[in-house]
Amino acid sequence: MAGKTHSTRIILFALLIIGFGIVAAYFVPALFGGIGGDPSASLTGGIDQHLIERGAYVAIEGDCAACHTAPAGKAFAGGLALATPLGAVYSTNITPDKETGIGAYTYGDFERAVRRGIRPDGRSLYPAMPYPSYARISDDDVKALYAFFMKGVAPVRQAALKPDIPWPLSMRWPLTYWRWAFAPPVQPAAATAGSDPIAARGAYLVEGLGHCGSCHTPRGIGLEEKALKAGSNAYLSGAVVDHYLASDLRGGAWAGLGAWRESDIVQFLKTGRTRNSAAFGGMADVVFHSTQDMSDADLQAIAHFLKSLPSAADDRKFAYEPAVTAALHMGDVSKTGAIDYLNNCAACHTSSGKGYPLTFPALAGNPVVNAADPSSLIHIVLSGGTVPSTGSEPTAFTMPGFKNRLTDQEIADVLNFIRSSWGNDAAQVDAGQVANIRASLPMSNYAKAP
Ligand code: HEC
Ligand code: HEC
Ligand code: HEC
Repeated sequence: MAGKTHSTRIILFALLIIGFGIVAAYFVPALFGGIGGDPSASLTGGIDQHLIERGAYVAIEGDCAACHTAPAGKAFAGGLALATPLGAVYSTNITPDKETGIGAYTYGDFERAVRRGIRPDGRSLYPAMPYPSYARISDDDVKALYAFFMKGVAPVRQAALKPDIPWPLSMRWPLTYWRWAFAPPVQPAAATAGSDPIAARGAYLVEGLGHCGSCHTPRGIGLEEKALKAGSNAYLSGAVVDHYLASDLRGGAWAGLGAWRESDIVQFLKTGRTRNSAAFGGMADVVFHSTQDMSDADLQAIAHFLKSLPSAADDRKFAYEPAVTAALHMGDVSKTGAIDYLNNCAACHTSSGKGYPLTFPALAGNPVVNAADPSSLIHIVLSGGTVPSTGSEPTAFTMPGFKNRLTDQEIADVLNFIRSSWGNDAAQVDAGQVANIRASLPMSNYAKAP
């Protein structure tokens, strides 16, 4: 009897501790989550036309439209669904409408949302808003952004959509723990510091405003980016987003940017294409909404910074091998996948795999084709793609999707053919990998570039 009372007491005590833990876990963010920055801060010096125009450009560098303008929606009125592992969250209305947008935000409210992920009510934003990268935006640029969103954008009345996440997972307080664990402190980089001011400007744009790592850096167990800055080999080493591989942007010669010149990177970001490649998937949207309108000096700085990242992967150099081209010209289609390639792909990408420069990308020596992870290849063959139309290269060439024309095995065969021809060399793709991606289409998170 005494023993029983004793164990009942232990259980009660344990329940009390757990209960207290849950209550504390909930109240700690409620009490302290709003700490950081100064919500009452206002813009010293006021807002003039010059600041508004600078803010419009900073908003392009930050690619705010990619998420805050829904396809066919009003500029910056939000409503675009972004996938999270728990369900979709929606971008909010950041037009200066007082009730449904951010018209009532002080400068301090705005700064706290953009660089710290804190809403005016002290709760945390979903990191689908890339505030861990924006923590690096300079004070001057946040001020310019505020000026632009308050005075340069037309107010739109459109209420925010609630996340498609079921209760209790939809409670926001755990996001505050995420923020405490993973978001860096506000650390505006000096845009022109260091011995190489061009690389420093590039780092500012890539690590900060451009938030390139939100797609190109692999994520850890808390879904945080494994590195937010150069200095770790994980940074920009490639990651799968939306079943596309956002490529390795480090110096590896085989599947990274090792064989690209700075001028190639500038051309890719400005026009959406180079002699050998074309932007697709999420990158088409980045080019369309953001990089095509960046200044040449900014693009140059981005390219210079990217070329400073050492290789963390395969450094083999590509050398073109003509044997497969010769066989195809002789009518020899004995290699697995050769006939599928001739029937479906060669009209555009040519039997030499060299394509037509600036029209149909080369497959020979293309890092996208040689990447270990075949997600991008499977996805583009299933769904097709359209190069974004840009100011300097307006023609939007299209590759058709083959999901209704080729079986999983035929797609695996044709991809294995291009991954082992003309000097290319990458791991085999099997039909199961194709089936998995086919089953999850269509699922793009990002507005499709027209
Ligand atoms: C990758 C997508 C993405 C990009 C790029 C992005 N945002 Fe957001 N933003 C979001 C999402 C999603 C939310 C809502 C998050 C939530 O509900 O917790 C949000 C919320 C916000 C909020 C908070 C609004 C509120 O309701 O309190 C502000 C302010 C904001 N964003 C400004 C910006 C600015 C300025 C830029 C460009 C410099 C930008 N965002 C770029 C996805 C994005
Ligand atoms: C929304 C996700 C996303 C964001 C944000 C993003 N990228 Fe990409 N990027 C991709 C995907 C997916 C690919 C692969 C498709 C392609 O080659 O266009 C890619 C490819 C590239 C390539 C071509 C690599 C190759 O080998 O063909 C470059 C260069 C590049 N990105 C640079 C950048 C820079 C610089 C930024 C930041 C300003 C950036 N990306 C931001 C998704 C993204
Ligand atoms: C009608 C012409 C056409 C046909 C046919 C075609 N493609 Fe493409 N392909 C393109 C265009 C245009 C792009 C650029 C698409 C984009 O940027 O969204 C492209 C892009 C690609 C890419 C990405 C390369 C890069 O770096 O941008 C791969 C891989 C590819 N095609 C493979 C194939 C395969 C395999 C087939 C046959 C199953 C095929 N294509 C059939 C026109 C074509």
